[in-house]
Amino acid sequence: MKTVLTDAAEEAAGFIRLGGIVAFPTETVYGLGADVFNEHAVTKIFEAKRRPADNPLIIHISEISQVNIVADDLTESANRLIETFFPGPLTVVVRKRPEVPAVATAGLETVGIRMPKNETAYAFLSACETPVVAPSANLSGRPSPTTWQAVREDLYGRIDCILKGETTEFGLESTVVDCTSDFPILLRTGAISLEELSRIIPGTRIDASETSLSKRSPGLRHQHYKPAAKVILVGRDEIISAGESSAYIGLHKPAGTFALVKISPSVENYARELFEFFRESDRQGVTTIYCETVDFTGIGRALMDRLTRAGTMPG
Ligand code: TXA
Ligand code: MG
Repeated sequence: MKTVLTDAAEEAAGFIRLGGIVAFPTETVYGLGADVFNEHAVTKIFEAKRRPADNPLIIHISEISQVNIVADDLTESANRLIETFFPGPLTVVVRKRPEVPAVATAGLETVGIRMPKNETAYAFLSACETPVVAPSANLSGRPSPTTWQAVREDLYGRIDCILKGETTEFGLESTVVDCTSDFPILLRTGAISLEELSRIIPGTRIDASETSLSKRSPGLRHQHYKPAAKVILVGRDEIISAGESSAYIGLHKPAGTFALVKISPSVENYARELFEFFRESDRQGVTTIYCETVDFTGIGRALMDRLTRAGTMPG
């Protein structure tokens, strides 16, 4: 398949209107979009990414009024979170309308909806003139792409178009919250923190039970965020037996020599740079990536979630 690279949102949206699949930037990570109502196009997303069919997709909208095209019976908590955080890096899971095809939601009776806060995403999504389903634009199991070059690395020749934009602002995927009952349940941590959610709805909780969680958020069952290199989590000042083929990313300078080192000035920067660092480590043939652990506050909780999924804790 020929993949067109463009920085014109209107040109990229043209492919969606014709039933194609298009990668586009958002404030979190790049997404791979298709018209939600075109079943054939939605199926092509799963093929291009080699994504398991039981993992539902998030629906992206450009205007709040589009919520009602895909969702029904919104709870009070869903409405409050939408009012507060749309547009932004939050996905709310609500009851779906019957018109939304089952392939998009992996057969679930619910849909995840989000309205990105990014100018290019807005220009693209409004030109599509339909809600757009989009998972992250990586091959399944690879780190989510934070640059259009990372999308090209995974999906060139497999999708119709890449809309080129900036490096993404947050670098981690959106926070996913189940709002089908009055007390929201955090299914995936992300750029909107638990603290921020709890400020709006004090009853918001993290469901710790793995089994019930994987039933509600099928994505959590699947292998995620794995670079080819082994990822090892280390505390600050922990002694590392580094070598020529090791890399390090964290907030503080490590002892030892590494093939690749990234010291991030803040947790926000660390989160933004992590996935690209994983990819760069793979490109350079690094075999072990040491990642400094951070506090579970703010975006630190989401960063620790991605680090833990990618790696192993020593001891
Ligand atoms: O920031 C993001 O969310 C990016 C950008 C492109 O918007 N998208 C993204 O999509 O990360 P994806 O497909 O890689 O992750 C979607 C997550 C999965 O864990 C999936 O299981 C969950 O959201 N999800 C989607 N629809 C759901 C639903 N109806 N119920 C429960 N979980 C759902
Ligand atoms: Mg993904």
